[in-house]
Amino acid sequence: MQLTRSLPVDALPVAPETAAPSRNLYFALLDTPISETVRASAADYLNSQLEAASACPCDLPQDPAGLGEWLDGHTAKIGGQYQTYLDGRRAGAPRRYFSSKAHALHFLQGVAPTKLVDGAWLYGLLQRWDDARFTALIQTYLEELGEGQPEKNHVVLYRKLLASQGCDDWQNLNDENFVQGAIQLALAEHAEQFLPEVIGFNLGYEQLPLHLLISSYELTELGIDPYYFTLHVTVDNADNGHAKKAVQALMAAWPQVGDSEEFYRRVINGYRLNDLGASTLSVIAGFDPEQEVLRVLEKKAAVGQFVHSDYCRFDGRTVNQWLAKPELIPQFLDNLQRRNWIKRHEDPQNSRFWQLITGEQGPMFGVFSAHEQQLIHDWIAGDWLAEQVPTHGKPHPVLAQRQAQFSGRRRTLAEQPTRPALAQPQGQPVSDFDQETQLLEQQLAQLPTREARIRHLLPLLAPTRHHSAAGLLATRIFTGLFN
Ligand SMILES: [Fe+2]
Repeated sequence: MQLTRSLPVDALPVAPETAAPSRNLYFALLDTPISETVRASAADYLNSQLEAASACPCDLPQDPAGLGEWLDGHTAKIGGQYQTYLDGRRAGAPRRYFSSKAHALHFLQGVAPTKLVDGAWLYGLLQRWDDARFTALIQTYLEELGEGQPEKNHVVLYRKLLASQGCDDWQNLNDENFVQGAIQLALAEHAEQFLPEVIGFNLGYEQLPLHLLISSYELTELGIDPYYFTLHVTVDNADNGHAKKAVQALMAAWPQVGDSEEFYRRVINGYRLNDLGASTLSVIAGFDPEQEVLRVLEKKAAVGQFVHSDYCRFDGRTVNQWLAKPELIPQFLDNLQRRNWIKRHEDPQNSRFWQLITGEQGPMFGVFSAHEQQLIHDWIAGDWLAEQVPTHGKPHPVLAQRQAQFSGRRRTLAEQPTRPALAQPQGQPVSDFDQETQLLEQQLAQLPTREARIRHLLPLLAPTRHHSAAGLLATRIFTGLFN
C-alpha cells in the first residue's frame, strides 16, 4: 500500500499576522494585562465573527415568549435521540464517535482551547455584580468556576484531564480550533458593548447537546474519566440548571424602554456565534489516524530525537536518513509495512516496530509520549480493534477501578468545608506555597467595605487567573460576598 500525503493547510507559508488570527488573538487575550491594542482587535474580531454568524441558520423562536417551550422541546428531542443511540448500542452497534482511544484523545486535545476558557464569555458581567438583572448569569459563571473549589472548577478539571492523558500539547492546533475560545475571551473583554450577544451566546452554549451525552458514554468505555463531561450533563439541565438560567437571564435583561426587536436580533446573532469554528463534531470527524501518525513521526524527526543506531537499513537508507526528509516519511511507513515490521489490523504486539518503541530494551523506548504511543498502537491495530469485545457503556476495567478511587476522593473533598481564612499561628513563617493566598487575605482585611473587597477580587476571577490558587481563593470569597 502506498501512502500519500499532502501538506496540511496550516503548514503553508503565509504572513504571520494572517496565518492564524484566532489563535493569535486567543493567546494575546490570555496575556495580562491586556493592552488596548489587543482589546481593540478583540472588538474587531467579534464584529467580523458576528457578521459571519448572521448567515448561519437559527432555531430560536421568532417570539421570545416561546423560549420556555423551545427549551422543553430541545430537551425532549435530545433525550429521544440519546435513547435511540443507547438502544442501538445495546443491540450491538459500534461506538458512534470514537473508533479508538487515540480518536478520543484527539478529540480531547482538539477542543482544549475552548474547554480551557470554559465560562469566559460571562466574565465581563461580574463588573455588574450589584445589578439583579445579571444575578443568574453571574451564578452560572461562579458555577463554571466551581465556586472556587478546585475539584469542581471546570478549567482545573479539564487541565487535569489533559495532563492525565498526556494531551496537553494543544498550543499549535489549527486556527479553527481557536475560534470558539477567541470568541469567548473577546466577549469577556467586551460585555459592555456586546451585552445582548453575550446573553445569546450563553443561551446557545448552555443547552444540553447530544454530543455531551454520547461522548461521556464512549469515553467511559475507553477508560477515560468522563467526569468533566458528566458534570456538564447535570449543570446544563433544563429543569434548574444553566440552560434554564440562560432563558431567565434573557428575560431579566429584556429592554423596558429601548428597542426590544433590536435587542432580540442581537441575542440571536450572539446565539449563532456558537456555530463558528471547529466544533465537537468537526473535531471528531477530522481524525485521520494515518495523518496523525505521520505528523508525530515528522515532529520527532524535526527535533532529532529518534533512533541513533544506523545498523538497520530500509531500501539502502538508515532510519535517520528516512526521517530527515519529511516527504520520505510516508514511503518509510510503507516500507515498514511491506517488510512486516508493521502488521496492520493485527494485535500491535505482533509488529516489530511496536516492540522497538515500547520494549524497555528497544532502541526507541521513551521516544514517544503515552499519547503518541496510543496513536501508533491504534493505527497499527486498525480493524483488529473493532473485533475486540465491545464494552457497551460499561467502564473500561482500568477506569472502573480508578473511578472507585476518584469518587471516594471527590466525596471526601466535597464534604470538606470551604477552607477558612488562613489564620497563621503567630510566630510561624508562612509557607512559600501559601504566600499568595495569605497576601490576598491581608489585602482584603485592610479594605473598608464589601464593595471595595469585591472590586479587589474581580481581576482574580478572570478567565486566565481563576484557576490559580489565588484565583480559587478569590472565587470562594467572592461567592460568599455575592450570595
Ligand atoms: Fe463548563
